[in-house]
Amino acid sequence: MHTISIHQFGGLDELIYSKQSRPQLGPGEVLVKTAAAGVNPIDWKTCSGGGASQFITDMPFIPGWEFSGLVADPGDTDFKLNEAVFGMIRFPQPAGCYAEYIAAPAEQIARLADAADLTAAGGLPTASLTAWQALFEKGELKAGQQVLILGAAGGVGHLAVQLAKWAGAHVSGTASLHNHEFLATLGCEHAIDYRHQSLSEYTNSMDLIIDCVGGDTGIEALPCLKPEGILVTLPSVTKDQVIAAGLAQRRRVEAIRCEPSAQQLRQISELVADEQLKLHIGETFPLEKAAEAFSLSMSGHVCGKLILTF
Ligand SMILES: NC(=O)c1ccc[n+]([C@@H]2O[C@H](COP(=O)([O-])OP(=O)(O)OC[C@H]3O[C@@H](n4cnc5c(N)ncnc54)[C@H](OP(=O)(O)O)[C@@H]3O)[C@@H](O)[C@H]2O)c1
Repeated sequence: MHTISIHQFGGLDELIYSKQSRPQLGPGEVLVKTAAAGVNPIDWKTCSGGGASQFITDMPFIPGWEFSGLVADPGDTDFKLNEAVFGMIRFPQPAGCYAEYIAAPAEQIARLADAADLTAAGGLPTASLTAWQALFEKGELKAGQQVLILGAAGGVGHLAVQLAKWAGAHVSGTASLHNHEFLATLGCEHAIDYRHQSLSEYTNSMDLIIDCVGGDTGIEALPCLKPEGILVTLPSVTKDQVIAAGLAQRRRVEAIRCEPSAQQLRQISELVADEQLKLHIGETFPLEKAAEAFSLSMSGHVCGKLILTF
């Protein structure tokens, strides 16, 4: 099977498109013929020696933690041959999703309620689970609350806007001006051009802030929280900084590490089938062009998700 792998941490030149043998199935695992695999910032951060690289002990390492595809061998599980499935698996341990076949733990994947768009489904698991867990678990979101999404046009952000709206919240979001029309189509009530507009008019007005940008951006948004509000910060590399600033300003800051959840994926899949949630594909790349997808993701200004196709 074709894969993308690295033999050492480093730059984009380390990504190698080559053939490797198919993974062997263990107990409770399903063999999936991959249709699509999402590209997330954690993929290039890890390949360059940051991100989850402390969990990568063996080389070659096949990156990728999320996928969609068809069941090629259900093993000893309840899944059926050719069922359409998707999942985020094993994170932060290696999962090997940039490959034509994946051995996936059955308890971390879900059937697709509507398999019409397998490509979009490949980019859904990580960003939608992160948005779900940030809004409803760490962020304790309730209907009627005011939510601000920092980085609302990105992979996690654009799904967080839709999920917050679905939950009955009032949603504001920051993005470059050219993405404001896109945010309006998602149900975002106030789009803020973070390059030219200050957040001062939102002081003390937010119940929840989802910080998809981190660092100074998260810190500068803290005064927007109501005294009892919560800011959930996503980028792990700056989380300590944002937490420290929250402590100094007596504002509650929560960090997050996205966890696999088949149960949440089933709910997300139902929302997609009901047209309440839609993944926006920024661009697709054939697997062998993973380096181009990484390069674009590293620019930090992708709208929606980048997806590798097989
Ligand atoms: N802790 C976890 O479990 C977890 C899980 C998932 C992701 N993450 C992290 O969360 C971050 C976001 O992930 P993602 O997949 O959403 O990334 P992404 O898709 O690459 O985010 C790109 C978006 O960021 C926006 N952006 C960049 N700088 C900004 C700024 N200063 N203010 C507002 N928006 C800005 C861009 O907006 P414009 O193009 O409109 O300028 C773009 O739409 C990454 O650091 C990722 O590693 C953490």
